[in-house]
This record gives sequence, C-alpha cells and structure tokens, in this order.
Amino acid sequence: RAEVVINGSSLPTVVDKSNESIKHSIQPASSKWRHNQTLSLRIRKQILKFLDAEKDISVLKGTLKPGDIIHYIFDRDSTMNVSQNLYELLPRTSPLKNKHFQTCAIVGNSGVLLNSGCGQEIDTHSFVIRCNLAPVQEYARDVGLKTDLVTMNPSVIQRAFEDLVNATWREKLLQRLHGLNGSILWIPAFMARGGKERVEWVNALILKHHVNVRTAYPSLRLLHAVRGYWLTNKVHIKRPTTGLLMYTLATRFCNQIYLYGFWPFPLDQNQNPVKYHYYDSLKYGYTSQASPHTMPLEFKALKGLHEQGALKLTVGQCD
Ligand code: CTP
Repeated sequence: RAEVVINGSSLPTVVDKSNESIKHSIQPASSKWRHNQTLSLRIRKQILKFLDAEKDISVLKGTLKPGDIIHYIFDRDSTMNVSQNLYELLPRTSPLKNKHFQTCAIVGNSGVLLNSGCGQEIDTHSFVIRCNLAPVQEYARDVGLKTDLVTMNPSVIQRAFEDLVNATWREKLLQRLHGLNGSILWIPAFMARGGKERVEWVNALILKHHVNVRTAYPSLRLLHAVRGYWLTNKVHIKRPTTGLLMYTLATRFCNQIYLYGFWPFPLDQNQNPVKYHYYDSLKYGYTSQASPHTMPLEFKALKGLHEQGALKLTVGQCD
C-alpha cells in the first residue's frame, strides 16, 4: 500500500503490481458521493505551487515572435521556428483568465462511455473538457455535445484524419473544427518533433477557413510541472496523459470536477469487454514498455481522490 499525500492529508491509493485490484470497487454513479470542498481547495493550492493553469494553459503572443527558436520538450536536440501562422494563432490573453466554474466535466476517451447514457449529465456541467478531438455527434447520448475545451495531440491528425492525405480528409478535419464553434482548441505543439508538420497543417487550415476556435498552445513548462506535482505526491507517472493534464489544470478554475470515460482497462466491473476508445478500434497499448503512459497508475490516484470527494469518477451508467 502506498499513499498519495496532498498537503499533509493522506489519500489512500492501492498501488500494487496488477491492475485488477483497483477497479472493482468504484461505486455506481448514483451511489452516495460527497464533494470535499476543503480537500479540493487544498489540492488547488498545492498544484499552484507547481503551475498556474491560467498561465500555463497557453503561451501568449507577447512572449514569442515569428522566427523564435523552440526546443521540443521531449526531443531537446530538435528545434522548431515559430511560424507566422503559429504566431497569429497565439492568444493575447489566457483563455482561462479569471475563469471560475461551479462544475466541470472532463471526458476521457474510454469505451466505458458506450451505453452509459451520460451525455445529458455531461452537458449540464458549466465547463466541458474533451480530449483529442474525439467525435461527439454520433455518440451524443453517451458523451454529450457541449465542448468548451478540446485537446488535440498532433498524432490525432495521423490517427483519425489520415495525415490529411487528400481533400476528403482535409474536409473531415475542417468539419470537425467548424463544429467546435468558438471553443478552445488546445494543441500541445512543443512536445515532440514528430508533430511539427501536423500542427502547421492544422494552423494553416484554421486561418485559411477562418475557423471559429480559440487556439491555445500549452507552455513549455506545463508537462514537467504536472509530472512534478504528481511525483511529489508519490504517483510515479512516466508522462502524464492528456486526461491527467486536464484534471490538474481544471483544479485551478473548477470548484467540482467530474470525470467520465476514464477506464484504462479492457474489462468493465462486470467483466464485459471495454473498447480502448469509444469511437475507434485502437487497442490497449499503454501496457507495453514503449508506451509513455502509466494509465492504470494514474487511475489509481484518481480513484483515491474520488474516494476522498476531491473529484467524482463515473465509470458506469448515469442515472
Ligand atoms: N483514457 C482512459 N482510459 C482509456 C482511454 C483514455 O482513462 N481506455 C483517458 C486518459 O486519461 C487519456 C484520455 O482519456 O489521456 C484521452 O484519451 P486519449 O485520446 O487516448 O489520450 P492520450 O493520453 O492523449 O493518449 P495518447 O498519448 O496515446 O494520444
């Protein structure tokens, strides 16, 4: 047994070698869960020692100019030049400046959402965060439609939009982006050199077609700061997933945080198969040594926080 210690308060999380022990005891959505305001505030305060979501959510225009050289976070020897397009899309002020929401939903991409009927509940939250341009229209009953912020790892362009090889795929991406309708599009552009062209393609598309999105590009320090926070609390993650990044950021501007679609296991609580993503046929890859993520470990930490009332995890059906 190990403990997540958040500012003096011990949050028990089971840390053992198998993924089995942690997943059976999450209560159904309807069971008694109470928000622990004191703990949420304490967590927010502690995270603020590592990062400030208001600032770290995006590099701002005033801090870069076209031609500036940036070293990729995971490929320190590789660099990129800030292009004119990227510069144009940098926000002038933080998209989260002075923002506070009573309740936020963070929607992960696990297949556990399928047949959950959670769409309506998700859409009632004041701020809804989604990951990696996951589709919503066809899954609205289970995942909802409201989107205030959506992330886009550059790899999504390859995985879900065939690297925009032809006009059909470019049009598909364009439609998805138009569907965002003014929400924040969060693009980790400075992580790895492999994303260089993909980020540029998307930037060019947004500008050319005047897509109504508010682009944001996370700060160079965000990833290490988030990892630092969790490591300090004895959660030994390799590289935080998008979902964990979003939770960590959300603690700054959300009073209550509800997580849906977080379930990095191939079987549900009743031993039924669960797809890795609710919308595609990607397989469970994080178990390989090569994967940068340690999702089950993250899940254990989040489950510990759920049990303490700092966040609410829904892994079954909604009422
Ligand atoms: N997630 C989960 N269980 C799954 C799939 C996803 O808990 N079976 C959560 C993770 O927190 C993940 C988020 O949902 O970060 C979004 O899913 P995905 O788009 O797969 O996330 P990434 O972390 O960006 O994965 P990758 O680095 O492979 O792109």
